[in-house]
Amino acid sequence: MIFITGGAGFIGSNFVIDWFSQSNEKALVIDKLTYAGNADNLAPVTADGRVHLERVDICDGESIAALLRAHRPRALLHFAAESHVDRSILGPADFVRTNVNGTFALLEATRAYWQGLGEAERPAFRFIHVSTDEVFGSLEPDDPAFDENSSYAPNSPYSASKAASDHLVRAYHRTYALPTITTCCSNNYGPYQFPEKLIPLMILNALEQRPLPVYGDGLNERDWLFVSDHCSAVRAVLERGQVGHVYHVGGRNCVRNIDVVRSICRLLDELQPRARGSYADGINFVRDRPGHDRRYAMNPHKIETDLEWRALESFDSGLRKTVRWYLDHSDWVRKVRSGEYRNWIERQYGPAASHPLH
Ligand code: NAD
Ligand code: DAU
Repeated sequence: MIFITGGAGFIGSNFVIDWFSQSNEKALVIDKLTYAGNADNLAPVTADGRVHLERVDICDGESIAALLRAHRPRALLHFAAESHVDRSILGPADFVRTNVNGTFALLEATRAYWQGLGEAERPAFRFIHVSTDEVFGSLEPDDPAFDENSSYAPNSPYSASKAASDHLVRAYHRTYALPTITTCCSNNYGPYQFPEKLIPLMILNALEQRPLPVYGDGLNERDWLFVSDHCSAVRAVLERGQVGHVYHVGGRNCVRNIDVVRSICRLLDELQPRARGSYADGINFVRDRPGHDRRYAMNPHKIETDLEWRALESFDSGLRKTVRWYLDHSDWVRKVRSGEYRNWIERQYGPAASHPLH
């Protein structure tokens, strides 16, 4: 079986659903169920018992160690993180705690478990660390896309904390030979994304006829990847990636923020027209994000050639699927917007304390 941290979040839950569309191998999800974790996301795959959710904080090394001893996974895929740049600007402490200390606790527990494995199992074990393009900072307009040799230059508390976690993972491979692989991916979008990130926020604000807040001049550029393409990249890295390596993942879909927002408005005008006017009437330029990175772009050449991975969605096809998904899942949206999903989590799992295995 495999362990998946952060499996109730946006990318993690997409990964779990995608995993069971291709495999019968069991998965244990370790998730603290913060505001960003939603057990409802896993509903399509929890019913038949192949996935089990443990509400555990990755900073709780003892509980992680107990889970590893009890279930003996062949791999641990580490998605759990505090992930929202704006929140990291308002309150960086949780980012350092989860992304740095949490990754450290996970590495320590995993190292002890891995060192106790038999001769045959030890080399086959994998620790896959899911990281981000943001650790490399911001590109100038004519700079080539980031590749695996780009220097680290994080600019937000979020990206600095992810960079620190990347360095710890690297050190655990170099020092202890823990079989780690790191992926650095560009901006994801798709089903189940929490509506504080650009694309779902704009879709839902537009539908609720609220302003569409574009930071600064709207000319910041991101390299957009549909989430199922990120999932297939992580699977390729798990199955075929080289230990100790880093793989950059991106969609070759660099789009300026204002064009993303205009595309969303055009799709909504087509799929659910307003009585009068266009959704784009709501576009509202607002104060810029402090330290706002201007441009990201990833060069996925290595994963494409070495692991034969390809992104299957274009930005147009992925965005259409995403807008459609939010239109078709008003119940999920309502529960997330109202906070109702949190009530269920508290009823199901009790207060936020972790539950060690007995
Ligand atoms: P998310 O915020 O939607 O989900 C994070 C999950 O981690 C949630 O389920 C949350 O409950 C859980 N979590 C948070 N703190 C925890 C803790 N201390 N212990 C256990 N669980 C905890 O994030 P996401 O967008 O799905 O991102 C997943 C990973 O991918 C992150 O590591 C992020 O840095 C990375 N990443 C994200 C993107 C993107 O565009 N969203 C792009 C590249 C890389
Ligand atoms: O690049 C990968 C990263 O992408 C991940 O590591 C992060 O976890 C993920 O949150 C995302 O970070 P960004 O900061 O790029 O994503 P966000 O959706 O917050 O913002 C995307 C762009 O849109 C960014 O330039 C800021 C802008 N923006 C965002 C919001 C929420 C706006 O203009 N208005 C908004 O209201």
